[in-house]
Amino acid sequence: MLTIKKMISEEIERILKGINADAGLDSGTVCSMLEYPPDEKMGDLALPCFKLSKVLRMAPVKIAASIAESFSCEAVDKAEALNGYFNIYLSGEYLAKKIAAEVAEKGDKYGAPTELGEGKTVVLDYSSPNVAKPFHIGHLGTTVIGHSLKKLHEFAGYKCVGINYLGDWGTQFGKLIVAYHKWGNAEAIEQGGVDALVELYVRINNAIAEDATLADEARAEFRKLEDGDEENIRLWKWFVDISLAEYQKTYKQLGIEFDSYKGESFYTDKMPAQVQKLRDMGLLKIDDGASIVDLEEYGMTPCLILKRDGSTLYPTRDIAAAVYRKETYDFDKMIYVTSAGQSLHFAQWFKVVELMGYEWYDKLVHVPYGTVSINGAKLATRTGNVILLRDLFAESIAKVAAIMDEKNPNLENKEKISEEVGVGAIVFYYLSNNRIRDINFMMEDALSFEGNTGPYVQYTYARTCSVLSKSPDYDKNAALTITSTDETSLLKTLSRFEEVVREAIAAYEPSVVTRYILDVAGAYNRFYHNCSILGAESEEIKNTRLVLTDAARTVLGNAFGLICLAKTEKI
Ligand code: ARG
Repeated sequence: MLTIKKMISEEIERILKGINADAGLDSGTVCSMLEYPPDEKMGDLALPCFKLSKVLRMAPVKIAASIAESFSCEAVDKAEALNGYFNIYLSGEYLAKKIAAEVAEKGDKYGAPTELGEGKTVVLDYSSPNVAKPFHIGHLGTTVIGHSLKKLHEFAGYKCVGINYLGDWGTQFGKLIVAYHKWGNAEAIEQGGVDALVELYVRINNAIAEDATLADEARAEFRKLEDGDEENIRLWKWFVDISLAEYQKTYKQLGIEFDSYKGESFYTDKMPAQVQKLRDMGLLKIDDGASIVDLEEYGMTPCLILKRDGSTLYPTRDIAAAVYRKETYDFDKMIYVTSAGQSLHFAQWFKVVELMGYEWYDKLVHVPYGTVSINGAKLATRTGNVILLRDLFAESIAKVAAIMDEKNPNLENKEKISEEVGVGAIVFYYLSNNRIRDINFMMEDALSFEGNTGPYVQYTYARTCSVLSKSPDYDKNAALTITSTDETSLLKTLSRFEEVVREAIAAYEPSVVTRYILDVAGAYNRFYHNCSILGAESEEIKNTRLVLTDAARTVLGNAFGLICLAKTEKI
């Protein structure tokens, strides 16, 4: 659509220059003013002429009429002035010629704004669970939004580095070590994995609530770990490995791989230099024994750098990590995806980085998201009473498997497909909302094959594959014969893909893609129901409809890839 918009804008530029050559209106400006009317009856594109009336010193109604008078463009069937709008109706024949050919030619690159990221690097910090704590649905957001942003940037030609900044350091390891010595046994932990660790963690927290001396013991064990005690390091590594092995299972189901797992522990020896720099620059203030950076001037509470006992904090590590990553990857942008609860933390230390004189401070982006509850129930983290991602996926997969048994009992590969659809249902449902909104997860809604769900769009994808497999010898290069508005509608929807991708990247908002997928699925299904494909009136029409089906499959597939949704060829 962008190329068509450009063509139209150039023609309008020509006319506007005729009205007033000195107004300085170029096609780029016109192009950015073109809108998609809310109702197709009012055209496929519209130019709201009131936006031009000031520069041209002319009433919108008159501008629209003047454009309509001499407008001519091969991509346009009809164009008319109405109430100060210039409404444009695209030619189905032209769309068929251009869009279908473009999709066929570009294939898995169709829709990619590749010049956007050329030669640029983006670092994405996402998922980042805290070791030996449960990987629960609170992490769903950072994991799937983060990965989707990575895929979107890759699609746009950026070089991407996905970092899982594991929470693998901190006093919780002191607690775990104490708990392990008191109640743990190696075999049970090897077998029970993260669950066994979480159990120990919950138990020690309860014990500490009764007996405060245990907290001192835990602090002492953590100190030993920091000082490099061999046995404690061994235990710590083991806890990290066990946790990671468990997380990997979930990542695998989602098709996620990280480029780096450098977690918080990696930065222990990189913090002193930054603390020293802060001190040298006179940015540190002692407040009740702790070292802070005062941010009152910027309307924020202070950023904590060192505790009273001299130990470092979460912001200290983030600052050191950012400096290290700038040196290592020389990023053009670094994106952090976390819950909105951490927004202040990021605003604070981004400011500190700026005050430290790092000129790349404005390349740091925090992407927050809202809270998740399930079937109305809020989460409780501290008590260990949480819904694990693993269990959520397992439940969804089991339910999908049951539906499949009923609907399509002879399906081959049922296990794999149930997994793809079960996981996809959750991902799609989650990413259907604007990320900042709090969401209440309703399992029934997510799994429905009828609503605006993952199963529905995956089913639509499978439908395109099934149609094409029944008549694989169509000719992608033949001239197309458009006979139905459902065909034109589908083409128009397909033509919007690149703009959708650009919008999703600009707003860091995967839901833009999710909603677009629903548009494509809707347009394809309307076409499928109203236009007979395999039994079409003539060979030309049949070929046209197969080519359109192929184009819909390509666009759906490309878009699925952007939001961690598997391309299910059969359901
Ligand atoms: N581990 C943290 C948590 O679970 C998230 C880390 C986010 N990334 C960062 N660089 N601070 O809350």
